[in-house]
Amino acid sequence: MTQDEMKKAVAQAALDRILPHLEDDMILGIGTGSTANFFIDALAEHKLRFDGAVASSEASAQRLQAHGIPVYDANSVSRLPFYVDGADEFDPHFNLIKGGGAALTREKIVAALSGEFICIVDSSKKVDVLGNFPLPVEVIPMARSYVARELVKLGGDPEYREGVTTDNGNVILDVYNLSITDPKAFEQQLNMITGVVTNGIFGHRGADVVLMGTPEGVQTLNKA
Ligand code: 5RP
Repeated sequence: MTQDEMKKAVAQAALDRILPHLEDDMILGIGTGSTANFFIDALAEHKLRFDGAVASSEASAQRLQAHGIPVYDANSVSRLPFYVDGADEFDPHFNLIKGGGAALTREKIVAALSGEFICIVDSSKKVDVLGNFPLPVEVIPMARSYVARELVKLGGDPEYREGVTTDNGNVILDVYNLSITDPKAFEQQLNMITGVVTNGIFGHRGADVVLMGTPEGVQTLNKA
C-alpha cells in the first residue's frame, strides 16, 4: 500500500466514523493538508446530509467550496461537533506536531471549537517523543529575528521558511533538533515569547482519536 493509499483509507475511516452522526444543521471542522484533502473529497459525496464546514485554511475552504460545501466563518459558530485533520507527528498521549502546511494557528482555533478531534495519519507520523519533525512556529514578521534568537536559547535550531506567508499574514520558523519531552509545558513556554502567534505543538488541545493508516489497514488507536 502506498502512503497516499493509507491516507485515503484513514480519510474514509474518519468519514465512516462521523456519517451516523451527521445532521442537517451540523457544521464540521475541516483541516488542512493532503490527508485532509482526501477527507474533503470523500465527504463531498454526503454534502446534503450536513450544513457546512469551518476550514482551517484558505486552501481547504476553496476545496470545500469547489465541491459545493458551504464554508462558515469561525466567528459564526460556537461549537463544531467534529474536527477532522492530519498531523505531522503524534505521540502515545496524542500530543501532536502540526503546521507542516503552515495552517497551525487556524488549526488550533478550529480544534479549540471542536467536540471530537479525529486525527487522521499514516503510520509514518507515529513517534515516542515529538520533535523529529521540525516544529513550526508562526511569528509576526517584525519579530522574526528576535524570536529566532529566543528559540536558539531554548535549544532549537530555527530556520525561516522562505517564501511562505500564512493565511494570517505572518511567517513561519521551523525549529530543528528539539526533543519535546513535556509537550504541554513547552507549548506554553514558546507561546510566551513576544512575537509568537502560536506554535505547532497541540498538547493542551491534542487529538481525541487517532486513526492510523498502515499497510495492513486502518487502526483506531487508544491514548496511553
Ligand atoms: C497543516 C498540517 C497538516 O495536518 C500536516 O502537515 C499533515 O499534512 P499531510 O496530511 O499532508 O501529511 O498541520 O498545517
